[in-house]
Amino acid sequence: MPVIAVVNRKGGSGKSTFAAHVAAWCARRGHAVMLGDVDRQQSSRGWLRRRSVDLPLISPWTLDNKNMLRVPTGITHAVLDTPGGIHGFELARVVMFADAIVIPVCPSVFDRESAAHCHAELMTLPRVAQKRCRVASVGMRVDGRTNAAQTLRLWSEGIGVEYLGALRETQLYVRSLERGLTIFDLPAHQVTADLAQWEPIVQWFQPILEPPQAANDPAQAKPVVARAHAPRPQNLMPAQDALIAGARLSVLSGAKTLSSGRGQPTLARAEAPGESRGLPQFLKR
Ligand SMILES: Nc1ncnc2c1ncn2[C@@H]1O[C@H](COP(=O)(O)OP(=O)(O)OP(=O)(O)O)[C@@H](O)[C@H]1O
Ligand SMILES: [Mg+2]
Repeated sequence: MPVIAVVNRKGGSGKSTFAAHVAAWCARRGHAVMLGDVDRQQSSRGWLRRRSVDLPLISPWTLDNKNMLRVPTGITHAVLDTPGGIHGFELARVVMFADAIVIPVCPSVFDRESAAHCHAELMTLPRVAQKRCRVASVGMRVDGRTNAAQTLRLWSEGIGVEYLGALRETQLYVRSLERGLTIFDLPAHQVTADLAQWEPIVQWFQPILEPPQAANDPAQAKPVVARAHAPRPQNLMPAQDALIAGARLSVLSGAKTLSSGRGQPTLARAEAPGESRGLPQFLKR
């Protein structure tokens, strides 16, 4: 199952906005898509509740009667929205599941610096360093009257991140999200400029979400179940504890934390034998 995650440590950078749009694009393409909130604020879940049943369906996680996180039956595509401040173990977990990561970045120097730190951490993870998980940035809330888009492009290229383009600042995003909509759900003539901005972004993620070999793959439609809560291990590092407390998509019953020797936790890879126990099945590789 193709999984795209939207990541940036910086709060308010447009992660939920971007994730909702990717999910809506999938839904409009006829894919059975889930928008999974890894975010304790549950922004995406709230947005989904506001979405009309007449629109192309986007599913949330479901919780079954055994308190297990469940990917709804038949889901073939997943988009993961993540919280601001994500780093360390939580970030590593998301990366392990994702085929691609998009970093939405607002133009200010503070936003760029924060995103650069986030990218630097991503690059320490083997899946990213080996390009098994692709990473790209998108400019968010860009004022077309300024040179912000060019600044963002140069910044992104300067740190070695593919830059997909910029989305302008417009109340169209704000108003449509309030109504459970995205730009893709509005009449095309109302959003011509915005659809044009999405074009290069879609061109980038389309082959990831619609790989040719995935066509007619029955495995993609397999329903899977993941545990929402597991026995809490002793001596958790703060990131691990938060992950469990927040009922995020990972359950860490099998996870190990290693010390880097400098007082900072380093993270054991979940591919290690036994370590992926408790992970959502659909995210296992
Ligand atoms: N292109 C845009 N034009 C105008 N407003 C935008 C645009 N993109 C996002 N916003 C607004 O910016 C605010 C922050 O966006 P969003 O909630 O998507 O960020 P976030 O990174 O998910 O935040 P958090 O880190 O708190 O989860 C929201 O009010 C959203 O409506
Ligand atoms: Mg958000």
